[in-house]
Amino acid sequence: MKNIIITGANGQLGRAISNKLKKQEDVNVIKTDILEENDITSLDITNLNQVMDFIENKRPYAIINCAAYTNVDGCEKDWDGAYKLNSIGPRNLSIAAEKFDAKIVHISTDYVFSGDGDRPYTEFDTPSPISAYGKTKLAGEEFVKQFSNKYFIIRTAWLYGDGKNFVKTMLRLSETMQEISVVDDQLGSPTSTEVLSNIIEELLWTENYGTFHGTCEGICSWAEFTEEIFRIMNIKTKVNFISSNEYARQHPDAASRPAYSVLDNYMLKITNGYVADDWKKAIKVYLNDINNQK
Ligand SMILES: NC(=O)c1ccc[n+]([C@@H]2O[C@H](COP(=O)([O-])OP(=O)(O)OC[C@H]3O[C@@H](n4cnc5c(N)ncnc54)[C@H](OP(=O)(O)O)[C@@H]3O)[C@@H](O)[C@H]2O)c1
Repeated sequence: MKNIIITGANGQLGRAISNKLKKQEDVNVIKTDILEENDITSLDITNLNQVMDFIENKRPYAIINCAAYTNVDGCEKDWDGAYKLNSIGPRNLSIAAEKFDAKIVHISTDYVFSGDGDRPYTEFDTPSPISAYGKTKLAGEEFVKQFSNKYFIIRTAWLYGDGKNFVKTMLRLSETMQEISVVDDQLGSPTSTEVLSNIIEELLWTENYGTFHGTCEGICSWAEFTEEIFRIMNIKTKVNFISSNEYARQHPDAASRPAYSVLDNYMLKITNGYVADDWKKAIKVYLNDINNQK
């Protein structure tokens, strides 16, 4: 039986990957998060002593780090908190993983890039983050590389699953609004936690270590994404396309976001021959699941 520790198991990705791995007979999924709850054990990844004791006790095959400070605007006002969770947390886990010979899967973000390019970023492009979230996540990646050998860093983007996310926000707003304004000059690849969990599983059992991009295929803007969500759900709310400048005028406290943060899953393709689902397919599956749960 292999112990696999999930950190941030109560978050969007933590829930999805825990559910997926629980179906495997030879795996014992150990769910942890900052708060103890039902089958979730409390583990604060920013506390090195706690992390070392926990990993020593469980001797996991792998640690999958899904914990993060994901509130992009919040990070801007709380650099200390963001560095603690997005940088020191993965550092602690990597030190423990290395000492107790575990693999570590660490999830990172498209926001490590500036977004001023005009073609999808590969893993061979140089990060240059423009926000507190991006900078602290990049520092986390660097610690993982510095302290552990058996690592998979997987950068994902525009993630949605079981939890708070952009899709749910748009669905909620559409209940009361006839029109909605959404940014059309930021491009990316919306990715479901289901697709990302498949990518994690694809790598987890291998020794194909390194940094990977792990997003759905295809490109859209936030406005186009919203239109597709409304089309599938047969929602009549009109989507008004606005620029990032216009959005910034309306939300002066918002963090800068990359204009073009499309990731090419280049490493997955050239090392595994793995091609992820297209974003349009993934959102359809996700919304069908929401409809079935009603
Ligand atoms: N969401 C996106 O659009 C997006 C895009 C690109 C990359 N990513 C990356 O994908 C990964 C998963 O994101 P997600 O959306 O699933 O995140 P999420 O839903 O925000 O979940 C993060 C979890 O970490 C927990 N946590 C907070 N502080 C902790 C601590 N000190 N120790 C342990 N756990 C702690 C949170 O608990 P509380 O809720 O109680 O704070 C939450 O349950 C992250 O690495 C994120 O950076 C996300």
